[in-house]
Amino acid sequence: MILITGATGNVGRHLVAELLTAGRKVRALSRDPATAGLPSGAEVARADEAPMDGVEAVFFNPATSWNGPGELLAKAKAHGVRRVVMLSSMSCLGEDDPANLIGQHHLEAEREIEASGLEWTFLRPGAFAANTLDWAGQIREDGVVRGPYARAHTTPMHERDIAEAAAQAFLADDLVGTKPVLSGPESLTHADQARIIGEAIGRSVRYEELSPETAREAMIGGGVPAPFVDAMLRMYASAVDTPAEVYPEFEQITGRRARTFAEWAADHAPTFS
Ligand SMILES: NC(=O)c1ccc[n+]([C@@H]2O[C@H](COP(=O)([O-])OP(=O)(O)OC[C@H]3O[C@@H](n4cnc5c(N)ncnc54)[C@H](OP(=O)(O)O)[C@@H]3O)[C@@H](O)[C@H]2O)c1
Repeated sequence: MILITGATGNVGRHLVAELLTAGRKVRALSRDPATAGLPSGAEVARADEAPMDGVEAVFFNPATSWNGPGELLAKAKAHGVRRVVMLSSMSCLGEDDPANLIGQHHLEAEREIEASGLEWTFLRPGAFAANTLDWAGQIREDGVVRGPYARAHTTPMHERDIAEAAAQAFLADDLVGTKPVLSGPESLTHADQARIIGEAIGRSVRYEELSPETAREAMIGGGVPAPFVDAMLRMYASAVDTPAEVYPEFEQITGRRARTFAEWAADHAPTFS
């Protein structure tokens, strides 16, 4: 049995489906199992209960625990769980920079897991293509995305690809003790991504750059803690006109190239239309 935290999330939902297709038993956690809408083949349990009976491996999504994996690890160890796969982050690569709060947050969790003595894999994806779902309201309204740093590059990755790589970390043993960095197949700016979404929905979409100060206010107003907003804006500023690296690990793990942002946009076109 594989226990999936954050099972209704971008990655978790696809991971549940992947593991069921591979014939594995899955216990999917949600704070509200009644509305989780997960496949009937999965056992759905309450996130605050996280029942561990019969569980041999756990997927840890940091979005489900601001305090890190400590509680989950203690419980997992007590029940004889063997393996933890964590949805970490490419931002760990900037580990020498104490101002890199996003990286530090993920590194702390990785270190806790490493110290637990359980088998581990840390998947380190870069930007999720799904981050652009935040633009959907603006695109539906007037086709203009307003945000900071139009020319900042990332390698947006399809959540389904992240889930496929995560599934491999459960289905085989060769990813144990590894920290694969996962990226999409191409470096794109924010402006490129807006344009490609427009192509997918057959309407013109453009990115209108806001000053970092205006964007900062809006993000903080939207509930993101200021230190994280500042870390994110610093990351974007450093990526302006600087193509992001495309990493080979996804292809090495799955044997195929990662889905493009255009493929992602086509899959999500109804949300933007
Ligand atoms: N976004 C990026 O570009 C990026 C890049 C690299 C790494 N990451 C990592 O990926 C994580 C996000 O993954 P994701 O997009 O798959 O997850 P997600 O969709 O943000 O969330 C996963 C699930 O966690 C539960 N959840 C959300 N907030 C919670 C909270 N405050 N307390 C407890 N449970 C909560 C929700 O499930 P229920 O409502 O069903 O409980 C949600 O469906 C980030 O936290 C980060 O660690 C993200």
